[in-house]
Amino acid sequence: MKKLILKYCLITTLIFSLFSCSNGSGAGNYSGSSDDWLDDAVPSLYETYKDYFDYVGFAVEYNELSQTTVQKGLAKHTNHITMGNEFKPQFIMAWWGNDPEISGTFKASNGITIQTPKLKGFDTADAILTICKNKGIKMRGHTLAWHSQTEDAFFCKGYKKSNALVSSDEMDARLEWYIKTVLEHVSKWEKDNNNGEHIIWAWDVFNEVTPDGSGLLRTNSKWYQIYKNSDFLVHAFQYANKYAPEDVKLVYNDYGGVYGTSFQAKHSSQLDLVNLILSHKNDDLPTRLDAMGLQSHYSVITGKSIIEKEIQDFVSKGIDVHITELDIGTFDNYDHSRDLVKTQNKQYNSLADAYKAFFKVYLQNRKTDSKHGVESITIWGLNDENTWLNAPQNGQMQWLGNCAQYPLLFTKQNNNYYPKGAFFAVIDAVE
Ligand code: GLA
Repeated sequence: MKKLILKYCLITTLIFSLFSCSNGSGAGNYSGSSDDWLDDAVPSLYETYKDYFDYVGFAVEYNELSQTTVQKGLAKHTNHITMGNEFKPQFIMAWWGNDPEISGTFKASNGITIQTPKLKGFDTADAILTICKNKGIKMRGHTLAWHSQTEDAFFCKGYKKSNALVSSDEMDARLEWYIKTVLEHVSKWEKDNNNGEHIIWAWDVFNEVTPDGSGLLRTNSKWYQIYKNSDFLVHAFQYANKYAPEDVKLVYNDYGGVYGTSFQAKHSSQLDLVNLILSHKNDDLPTRLDAMGLQSHYSVITGKSIIEKEIQDFVSKGIDVHITELDIGTFDNYDHSRDLVKTQNKQYNSLADAYKAFFKVYLQNRKTDSKHGVESITIWGLNDENTWLNAPQNGQMQWLGNCAQYPLLFTKQNNNYYPKGAFFAVIDAVE
C-alpha cells in the first residue's frame, strides 16, 4: 500500500507541480433537489450507453456492495462493476502480513513441483459473485498479478516473508499455480451457481508494469527483482490464456501514459510491452491479449486530444481498450457548490465539461462489430465522499496539492446517492 501511495505522490508531483492548493472544505454541503439516483427523473447510465459500449459501471468496495441501496443503484445504472480490492492478490490470499499455511503441491508447466499455500479470501469473493448474480451485474476481475497489494511471503523462499526471494523458476510455478487456482475457482463457481454463465467477463492479468519515466519495467517490483527481465509478464499471459475460458477477455492494465512530457516514455514502454505480449501468441504455450486497460486517473486539465491519441495507439495494435479506473481530479478553486443536482440546467462546471469531453472521445473511438476500440468504461468509485483521492495520509490529503477532491458522478447524503452535474454531462455526451 505504501508503494502505491509513493507511486501516486510521484505522479501527483509530476502532473500538478504547477498548482498549489489549500485544504478544501470537504464534500458535504448538499442542498440540491430530492431526485436521488433511483428516481425515475434520473436516467439510467447503463440504458443511455447500452447501444455504444458492452460494459459501463463503477468500482465499489464490498462494504458498499453489501448495502441494498447500492445494489439497487448499481442494478439501475450499470451492467458491470470492478471490486476496488477484493479480487486483488492481497485479498484473495488474505494472509494479512502473516506467513501462510502450506496446503498442497503443484506440478508446473516448467516441470518443477512446488509447495502451495492456502488462499483464504474466496468466501468473500464468492459472496460478491452471488450479489452480482442476483442483481444481474457482471464484473471485471482486478487483478491476477501486481507488484503492489500482494503478500511479501508469496515471493519468498518457503513462503516466509523474512526469507530471501525465490528463483525465477520457482516464481514461475507459483505464478502459474495462483492464476490457475483463481481462474478455476471462478469458473467452478459460475458452473455450480450460474449455469456456467460468466460473471467475470474480463481479467486484468497484470497491473502496472512500467516505471514512471523511462525504462521498460518498474524496478521497485518484486517481480522484476526476481526475474530481472520481462518474462513474468509474458508468462502471466501464457498462464492466463491456458486457464481462462476462451471468451473471457485478458487485459494488461496500466496508468499514466498521458500526463505530460515525462510520461511519453511510459506510454511508449506500455506499447512495447503490448508488442512483447502479442509476439508470443504463437508460442507452444501461447499468450493472449484482448485489450489494454487504461486506468485513466485524470484531472480537469487533462487534454482530450492526448487521451484520444493514447486510445488510438493501443487500438492500432489490433486490440481493444478498457477504460478501467476513470476519475477526474479537481483543484482548490473548484466550485463544488455547482456540482450538485441543480446543475441539471446544463450550466456545466469544469468537472462536468471534462467528463462530457472524455465520454465523447470514448464514443468516437468505441469498439464496433467491424473495428477495435473502447469496449468498456469503469469509473473508480461512486461518490465524492468515498474517493481514494481524498484518503488522508499522515493527516493530510495526498493528491493534487493537498486539496479536497470532487472527482466522481454522485454525492452521498443521508444514505442516498445524488447525481451531480457531471453525471448529467455524461448522459448528455450521447446526443
Ligand atoms: C491503482 C490500482 C487500483 C487502486 C487505485 C487506487 O490505480 O490499479 O486497484 O488501488 O490505484 O485506489
